[in-house]
Amino acid sequence: MYEKELGSALLAKTGIDVESMFEKPKDPKMGDLALPCFRLAKTMHKAPQLIAEELAPIIKEEAFVSDVEVVNGYVNIRFDRQEMARIALSNLNNENIAISDEGNGKTITIDYSSVNIAKPFHIGHLSTTVIGGALYRIFTHLGYKVVGINHLGDWGTQFGKLIVATKKWSSLEEVSEKGVEFLNGLYVKFHQVAKEEPSLEDEARAEFKKIEDGDKEATKYYEVFKKITLDEVGKIYDTLKIKFDSYNGEAFYNDKMEACLDILREKNLLVQSDGAWVVDLEKYGMPPCLLIKADGATLYATRDIAAAYYRAKTYDFYKNLYVVAYQQNLHFKQLFKVLELMGFAKYADCEHIAFGMVSLEDGAMSTREGRVVWLKDVLNQSVEKAKEIINEKNPNLEDKDKIAQSVGIGAVVFSALYNQRIKDITFSLDKVLNFDGETAPYIQYAYARCKSIIRKAGNINTSNIDFACLTDDETYAIVKDILSFKEAVQTAARLREPCVVSRHIMTIVSDFNRFYIDHRIVDQEEKIKNARLALVSITANVIKEGLTLLGIDAPEVM
Ligand code: ARG
Repeated sequence: MYEKELGSALLAKTGIDVESMFEKPKDPKMGDLALPCFRLAKTMHKAPQLIAEELAPIIKEEAFVSDVEVVNGYVNIRFDRQEMARIALSNLNNENIAISDEGNGKTITIDYSSVNIAKPFHIGHLSTTVIGGALYRIFTHLGYKVVGINHLGDWGTQFGKLIVATKKWSSLEEVSEKGVEFLNGLYVKFHQVAKEEPSLEDEARAEFKKIEDGDKEATKYYEVFKKITLDEVGKIYDTLKIKFDSYNGEAFYNDKMEACLDILREKNLLVQSDGAWVVDLEKYGMPPCLLIKADGATLYATRDIAAAYYRAKTYDFYKNLYVVAYQQNLHFKQLFKVLELMGFAKYADCEHIAFGMVSLEDGAMSTREGRVVWLKDVLNQSVEKAKEIINEKNPNLEDKDKIAQSVGIGAVVFSALYNQRIKDITFSLDKVLNFDGETAPYIQYAYARCKSIIRKAGNINTSNIDFACLTDDETYAIVKDILSFKEAVQTAARLREPCVVSRHIMTIVSDFNRFYIDHRIVDQEEKIKNARLALVSITANVIKEGLTLLGIDAPEVM
């Protein structure tokens, strides 16, 4: 915080650029910022201590600096707490203090969730969906134009299998009525039976060929499968507050691959290998990228090449992000390399935003054995459990169902946004709903507490706040959290890490709770009460802004 301001002031006055050298002291008692002068010693040919002594008075000149101290080659800098409180509270009536226009309307495409039609939408899809959704909101907040893309897995031989299974053991009517879980059951049954009766596989291939050839009946089946899947995931997207600007999936690129393959042929990049066509990537330490199978069928990678070209042409993206599990690291490395070799201008602006696996505490998840944990069930269970907890803690609460929904869903969402993306997470309902843990309910509860304090206390005189009342350590910690919130949102965007936001709000909440234990707010002298209420009010705003960016509700009461 304020490294930039101090850095440019020093640069202007001394010609020395120190902006990147500031450190945040581990112990806040040492000050707000420290400038170690050791690296400068080389270029300035002076002892660090001497340099620190020279720079200290210049730093002191800044209005927001109250005190500097030179210790062992460091300048320890203390900000003027009253001034900091004033700056923080100047945003009192602003509910979105982190909004900015740094994106300047540049377009970012985000490929996320990208579900597979007729396959289960399971707990493993939680991360891509909510990380993508959070990045969508964060970039939008910062003035980017964001295009959310659900690159549906809506093409492939599974559709032939589903047609065969539906015809044999069910009907379109039944499938439409019973939905995607039932359809998935048919899919599993197909594989079981096909083990004994391999001819089913040929039938399935023939049915898929019919879809490819545009056969009316086969296409009708295909459309129904797609519709029931999208109806089902659509409900989950609503619950999770997730939206997309495009549902162009793999099938959309059926007629767009040939042009890309032509480029590859022109550049002699497509070589034959056992009847298939591949791009050789040995030079780059990767296995070949398979683009056309021996039977002429195109692949996932072929479609992704076409999609990259399409996105560049259609959206003229500044960055093109893919929020996909790290299991696909190789796929994206190959994809980006092939794009580079093809001369695709924006290959370097494509980024794989990888994330780790979600497993359940009892190891209950195994797609292969058909032990699938549907995301819908997890969300429902979480809401049920939230309801139980609320009934226990606050049975007279109005609108219990609605609040249980906000808490239950928020808890699950938050759990996928609280760690660095790449880490694997073990999911447990008890953990994510623990009101005393590092969870969404803990944050939501703090928010509701702030709101309740304000409701009970009545009006805040916003035009007459005595900032001198806001300088004690606990208050100052919150003031700093508020002042650095915008930077946290920017960092989250730069690193494509929503956890920078979730961690920041967690810090605000813990600092607020510490403050709340140590200080009375209402039965106080009027000016102290007013100043503290103002602080509570802006704290609540920032918590809500953060939760909203993550896609989590902030109920006013809990
Ligand atoms: N449907 C794919 C899967 O479930 C994810 C697609 C990701 N996006 C992409 N453009 N490849 O594995």
